[in-house]
Amino acid sequence: MQAITTAHQYLVEHQVTLADIGIVLGTGLHHLLNYVNIQQTIPYADIPGFPVATVEFHKGNLVYGTIGNKSVLIMQGRFHAYEGYSMPEIVFPVRVMKLLGVQYLLLSNAAGGINLNYKQGDLVLIDDHINLQSGNPLTGKNLDQLGERFPDMSAPYSPVLNDLLLSNAQTMGITLQKGVYAAVNGPNLETRAEYRYLKVIGADLVGMSTVPEVIAANHMQLPCAAISVVTDECDPDNLKPVNISEIIEVAGKADGKLSKLFEQVILAI
Ligand code: HPA
Repeated sequence: MQAITTAHQYLVEHQVTLADIGIVLGTGLHHLLNYVNIQQTIPYADIPGFPVATVEFHKGNLVYGTIGNKSVLIMQGRFHAYEGYSMPEIVFPVRVMKLLGVQYLLLSNAAGGINLNYKQGDLVLIDDHINLQSGNPLTGKNLDQLGERFPDMSAPYSPVLNDLLLSNAQTMGITLQKGVYAAVNGPNLETRAEYRYLKVIGADLVGMSTVPEVIAANHMQLPCAAISVVTDECDPDNLKPVNISEIIEVAGKADGKLSKLFEQVILAI
């Protein structure tokens, strides 16, 4: 809690004072920054208490600015379990956001499509999740200042935000499907048997992020919503090798429509 407060203090001293909406941008998804009237860009490395960057993690910035009349705090790059970060490190920035007054949290990610009705490049609204990661950000002594010991998870994704995303997508002519996201540790992609297993347990999507932040947000009663870009189709009976550059390329192609949708929803909140 002390570290969270110190980071908050540092940001306030650097003109990052109050924000309405927090945003976490996933792999290959940064086009939203083009819609932001940017006031501050602070490298994670400068913020006391922020997890120390690993080699592969070079693009870590907290971007503060406005979209229309809303102030936004954007994480350009997130922390993943497969990089070796602990669960409290992964959710540290989201906890700082809460102290900065953030009232809504929007997240994006790149994910594998388990549901074979999804095609590469589709946008899917996450309406529930399955946590298969090996840790939980709430393990250990409860931070009573942030939330209660046993947070409710009956509706981890805000119905209000979800409705806004769905209605705006419809108005904009963007197809937005709905699905259940399973979070795994990674960094390897799944075997055919694992994709079959994920389907059987009810997952529509699989990825290596988002769920820790969503758990921390629910703990703090911070309403959140998340959208996945389907970057690869995970058909166990017809599985082609995927590579990360292809995943990033597909994410990049869907980034424009995702960012427009986020922009419209931010204006509508
Ligand atoms: N599995 C896990 N994470 C992913 C995938 C996948 O198939 N695609 C993008 N992120």
